[in-house]
Amino acid sequence: MTAQRINPSILSADFVNLQAELEAIRTADLVHVDVMDNHFVPNLTMGPPIVERIQAVSPVPLDMHLMISDADRWAPGYAELGAFSVTFHVEASTDPVTLARKIRDIGARAGIALKPGTDPEPYLELLPEFDQVLVMTVEPGFGGQSFMPDMMPKLRRFAEARAKHGLDVWLQVDGGITVDTIGIAAEAGADTFVAGSAVYGGVPEERIADLRAAAAQH
Ligand code: DX5
Ligand code: ZN
Repeated sequence: MTAQRINPSILSADFVNLQAELEAIRTADLVHVDVMDNHFVPNLTMGPPIVERIQAVSPVPLDMHLMISDADRWAPGYAELGAFSVTFHVEASTDPVTLARKIRDIGARAGIALKPGTDPEPYLELLPEFDQVLVMTVEPGFGGQSFMPDMMPKLRRFAEARAKHGLDVWLQVDGGITVDTIGIAAEAGADTFVAGSAVYGGVPEERIADLRAAAAQH
């Protein structure tokens, strides 16, 4: 079995107690930080000043998910402030390969994210350029939505391309991941699981352990 990672999304955390909320998930692999600009998605979260503080106090490295327009302009800044991985949406970049190279050059892992309606085809042959592919299993913008099982064929396409190229690209799913859905995504080839409401809706440490156990069954 390949390594599996559980990345809680702080979108479902209490934003006025962020430091404590970050401490509460120290058993996680990475902390998933959703940046939204009220343009690429109809919601607004945070930008570089807050992410910089999160980076300074978080015991767990940062997995940035940029749901913002003009990714070419903004994504490298998140790598510069020390994030472990920076994932931008292909729909928001004019040149995903060049942007990924920039992110890697700065020293972060480079990821691409695809909205549910985005065709995976153009990216399958480009996989060596990326460290992570995020297949969205909800429309980006909000936590607490229902998992879209019809995204599994897309995930499988990436898993097949990864095997074909013999690469160690991480395949991430984000949206509606719970103990009931995580196995479906694992079975389709995902190894990196984002969960917001499923983690912060209970005792985070217990929820992380439950998700790990459920994912490991596949
Ligand atoms: C949604 C965000 C997700 C969100 C997931 O656009 O990208 O990371 O926090 O929340 P849940 O796990 O509640 O679906
Ligand atoms: Zn996300």
